[in-house]
Amino acid sequence: MDQDRAKAAVARAACDLIAPQLATDSVVGVGTGSTANLFIDALAEIRHTFDAAVSSSEASTARLQAHGIHVLELNAAPAVAVYVDGADEVDPSRALIKGGGGALTREKIVAATADTFVCIVDDSKPVDRLGAFPLPVEVIPMARGLVARRLAGLGGQPVYRQGFVTDNGNVILDVHGLSITDPDALEREINHIPGVVTNGIFAAERPETVLVGTPGGVERL
Ligand code: 5RP
Repeated sequence: MDQDRAKAAVARAACDLIAPQLATDSVVGVGTGSTANLFIDALAEIRHTFDAAVSSSEASTARLQAHGIHVLELNAAPAVAVYVDGADEVDPSRALIKGGGGALTREKIVAATADTFVCIVDDSKPVDRLGAFPLPVEVIPMARGLVARRLAGLGGQPVYRQGFVTDNGNVILDVHGLSITDPDALEREINHIPGVVTNGIFAAERPETVLVGTPGGVERL
């Protein structure tokens, strides 16, 4: 099973997992990225079994609407039953690095709102320790220099993501060279730097469930 087939299988498995939990008034939270796109495609097949979606990016909103799925503003959603999204890395404690697609802030907001978070990855994503994937940090543009210096002080090498603006009008610093031994502590520490909107460590908002697409099928981490 190649990576694309693994992503498709895990997206389908997530849909099968959440389907029994959905009712006609349910709202489903939807992530961003290639795996989340395949989840949207699977979700479209059961779109009459739930009410609406809330989305973590303009790109996912467009894909949901193209499938005829009603997309609510998060503030208009009475509750979000489940959030389903991919990740760039997942460690054995289910802490994640996310934000390769730059949607980390909205992703973290929807994950925090949802009753439960199901993370869907192919088998290239599980790692023993987070940090080989450069950690995305969303930054208010005027604070880019300050935040970069503070991140360097933490031992990372921040790289400005050239030509990229988030859906929130901000910039991304991708931090190379971090070996993340305590994801909870580093998530808090980076978020305390003035000008940081959020960083791509999802430790406070760990998924309850991680599904991994492997050559042998879909496994639960
Ligand atoms: C986007 C994300 C994605 O979930 C992450 O980058 C994984 O993407 P893909 O499913 O394409 O491998 O965090 O901001």
